[in-house]
Amino acid sequence: MVKLLIHGPNRLSGELSVHGAKNSTLPLMAAALLCKSECVLHNCPHLSDVEVSARILRHLGCTVQWEGSSLVVDPRGVCQWDIPDALMREMRSSIVFLGAIVARTGRAVLSFPGGCELGPRPIDLHLHALRKMGVRIAEDYGCLSCSVDGSLRGAAIGLSFPSVGATENIMLAAVLAEGTTIVTNAAREPEICDLAMFLNRCGARIRGAGESTLVIEGVRQLHGCEHRVIPDRIVAATYMSAAAATGSAIILNHVIPAHLEPVMPAFEELGCSIEIKGGSLRIAAPRRMGRIKSVRTMPYPGFPTDAQAPLMAAACLGSGTSIFVENIFESRYKHVGELLRLGANIKVEGRVAVVEGVPRLSGAPVEAADLRGGAALVVAGLAARGDTEVTGLRYIDRGYENMERSLALLGADIRREYQ
Ligand code: UD1
Repeated sequence: MVKLLIHGPNRLSGELSVHGAKNSTLPLMAAALLCKSECVLHNCPHLSDVEVSARILRHLGCTVQWEGSSLVVDPRGVCQWDIPDALMREMRSSIVFLGAIVARTGRAVLSFPGGCELGPRPIDLHLHALRKMGVRIAEDYGCLSCSVDGSLRGAAIGLSFPSVGATENIMLAAVLAEGTTIVTNAAREPEICDLAMFLNRCGARIRGAGESTLVIEGVRQLHGCEHRVIPDRIVAATYMSAAAATGSAIILNHVIPAHLEPVMPAFEELGCSIEIKGGSLRIAAPRRMGRIKSVRTMPYPGFPTDAQAPLMAAACLGSGTSIFVENIFESRYKHVGELLRLGANIKVEGRVAVVEGVPRLSGAPVEAADLRGGAALVVAGLAARGDTEVTGLRYIDRGYENMERSLALLGADIRREYQ
């Protein structure tokens, strides 16, 4: 079994560079499918989810090569339109390949992503939008068979929720469709802007990225380009949580401060001070934190659901009561039971978690049940007195490149053990 061994409590110091965003890299890799020539994506993180996406691209007929932290994708050999079930199951977000495969080949066969660690993850908005664009979709025994009669058509699509995945799938299908697609109530996340910037660089015509209305004029073809993936705002928020939980001061380099604006007020409420200098952020935590009146996860520019668990780990050590309301996913408090093992005091009632701050946590064996929940256990383990063992690393490795190395660079007593 693989585990992270943490001996705490730790005091962190120094600087760290934040790696590229997983949630940008995956749709960008799907977007590379649409191009007529090679694409180079710089600043890609070495993560298991990125490897799964590379395997999907290779299965479809692309060549994919790493050059340091750049991924070179040559989509000229695309000859398949299916994603094998095993790959779909490894990564639920592989659904973002649907729009790109349909736009590139005129058909697609893949299995339903189904439920996952965070509760049900429906794709009705994705399918409804693609149907409006002229995709025929048959859903049989957990399998989606898609085909396009003639070519994809631009459409007016109103989303009932600003779904990130659905907005990405629509963009990927619409850039090569005939006519104009207008998406209202589109997701506004920075990863949407990154995808639009990449596609526009390839010759697409997308306006309004980062706003609620996206206008996409279809073009005949796209060419490859070079693009630098944005820094991972959730990884940055996780290391900010680690600094807060351990009463430390650290500097995070290679961040886009504007992307962190939704999380900064929560850290300031806990008593942390934040200074921004260009692309660097310094966070300094007080000896004993305060509390956060309430954190409500919302679509961007609201507080990100992905940062809820790591921030909660820090709030466990505040003084007073912090309230969390999870509005995006039904089942996103799996870390709570494990935080209790470390001595936290948290009560969950439906979508609400009430965190009563405690003066200290103590080390214990804990198990990650999802990606960000796993990161929260590491954050708490760094602050806890004694030895914490974190298992379930396959989740953490989906989103954090060599997390133990990054934290050790900041002075943490953490190592990975293979047994
Ligand atoms: C979500 C997050 C995104 C994060 C990603 C990975 C939001 C709004 N989105 O994106 O920031 O990076 O997880 O953790 O915070 N839904 C439907 N039908 C659909 C699609 C979605 O009902 O067809 C619902 C989901 O059940 C969920 C919500 O919409 O309640 C969020 O979905 P969506 O933004 O699509 O999720 P992801 O793309 O996975």
